[in-house]
Amino acid sequence: MCGIVGYIGTSKAIPIVYSGLESLEYRGYDSAGIAYISNKTVHIVKEKGKLINLKEKLDFDANTNVAIGHTRWATHGVANKINAHPHSVGKFAVVHNGIIENYISLKNDLINNGYKFKSDTDTEVIAALLDYYYKENKNILTTINKAAKLLKGSFALGIICSDDHDAIYALKNSSPLIIAKSKSGNFLASDVPAILKYTNKYMLLDDTDMAKITKDTITIYDANLNIVNKETLTFTGSKNTAEKNGYEHFMLKEINEQDKVFTNTINTYFDGTIDSLKKNFGFLKDFKKIDIVACGSAYHTGVIAKHLIEDYANIPVYTEVASEYRYQKNFYDKDTLVILVSQSGETADTLAALRKAKSDGVKTLAIVNVVGSSVARESDYCIYTKAGIEVSVATTKAYVSQLTVFSLITMYLGYINKVIKKDELENIFKDIKKMPKLIKEEINNYQAYYAIADKIYKNKQIFFIGRGLDYANSLEGSLKLKEISYINSVAYQAGELKHGTISLIEENTPVIAIATNKSLVDKTISNIKEVKARGAYVIYESFIEPVDKFYNEFIKIPEVHPILENILTIIPLQLLAYKVAKNNNCDIDKPRNLAKSVTVE
Ligand code: G6P
Repeated sequence: MCGIVGYIGTSKAIPIVYSGLESLEYRGYDSAGIAYISNKTVHIVKEKGKLINLKEKLDFDANTNVAIGHTRWATHGVANKINAHPHSVGKFAVVHNGIIENYISLKNDLINNGYKFKSDTDTEVIAALLDYYYKENKNILTTINKAAKLLKGSFALGIICSDDHDAIYALKNSSPLIIAKSKSGNFLASDVPAILKYTNKYMLLDDTDMAKITKDTITIYDANLNIVNKETLTFTGSKNTAEKNGYEHFMLKEINEQDKVFTNTINTYFDGTIDSLKKNFGFLKDFKKIDIVACGSAYHTGVIAKHLIEDYANIPVYTEVASEYRYQKNFYDKDTLVILVSQSGETADTLAALRKAKSDGVKTLAIVNVVGSSVARESDYCIYTKAGIEVSVATTKAYVSQLTVFSLITMYLGYINKVIKKDELENIFKDIKKMPKLIKEEINNYQAYYAIADKIYKNKQIFFIGRGLDYANSLEGSLKLKEISYINSVAYQAGELKHGTISLIEENTPVIAIATNKSLVDKTISNIKEVKARGAYVIYESFIEPVDKFYNEFIKIPEVHPILENILTIIPLQLLAYKVAKNNNCDIDKPRNLAKSVTVE
């Protein structure tokens, strides 16, 4: 949610900062801007809309070695040029990711002190605050430190000041920020992809930390301006994960990586023996109740995990979206584990739910993709998913890696709780071995799903139905479709449809019906017939061969153990959503109004 990047070094700064912004554009694309210092003056170039609009306005050859940049997901004020970052007051220019909660009162104080504001943003208030204190003390570090003490909310800031063209300053609280060192200069950035062209070494700032970055030095201070040392981390993933590698979209590339992602995640925690599960998941054995908390697609993996863990391990699981969980009454006891699921590990609501559980004295486990992210660092236990960098806003491979971790957890808990017996466990082990090939076969079968997409993409609404686990899969299938194609889509429990929503079914309304639960398939088929009788265009997804032709299209998926089946259920739906969006000329990797990493509440 908003991406910031800064560079200072021996190379020309604009091309480097621009390319950093390209890798952070997944964080927001309402507007973009760059501020740089040249001839002891701060210059700002900004433009509404996607980064490409800014590109036309930039002088890539500008004589500057210091610049900060921003790509925006609008929070305060509409997405126009005035509200675009960087914001500048006096000698300071600021880029900001986050929300200043007390900006109105700060703004009023500054107005009373003679300041006038051009934008509706909270960020311009930060720039004015810096200007105000700088006039008092003429020391940039002290100024930033004083302002930091007044700011409430979440912020990762990149700051330049025309009085110091040899430095960029950074400040962090609750929003992610890394600092990196390379041979040709140093960086600040919201996320690792922004620096990967130049270095894979970086440091993480902690909340309330501040940094002064020059072309050869990085100095990090705590809130009392004491110098602190940070561990240098190495990003071990491939640089290529942040590039499209010939695919038309990141989403398609990431869908195609899912067999490898499954293998990487499995191999990290499981070597084919129950002992490896005990070693990696043994800490789970004493918990008697589990709450799973997350947002968006990550929440959907929690809905699936609830079914799996309850059915196969006999442990009650409560799943809730983080934005609700954080404010509601929760019934923990000493044996409760709260699991936070997040690709980015920076989602504000998920982080707040984690902090709430911790302050209530409950143990927490993070299932997170981004190494060193806030959710990962602050949880008692952490299991990393091994999806690699995911760029497309609509998650696919990270989602599958989360499901993979939940499959392993269910296997382990099911086995130790004696619901899954040795024979069944061995059959699951066999299925695990088959999975990469089955995933690849499904991906290679894309033309079959594309052909269905070609028939339904003009519809105004598309329904998904299923029961139990199939309903959980419907939620994600429906989200994938609507977030990238803008076609209204609702996922409904198959048996509940007739209690209202069936009134929306008319001639040719597509209904995607998922039926992978053998004990419920006949019930779901009855519900399918109810919509078919009302004119629905039925797309039936299952491994269970239909006995009569109650459908228009059949997506046949391979059968594996239910603990793994969900992965094979979602892949055709990802590809279907992709093609529907492509046919509608949608911006697949950057759907309107969305951002990949939502670091505001
Ligand atoms: C945003 C994204 C979703 C994602 C959700 C949770 O809304 O658009 O795709 O599922 O955030 O993100 P997280 O990083 O916590 O998994």
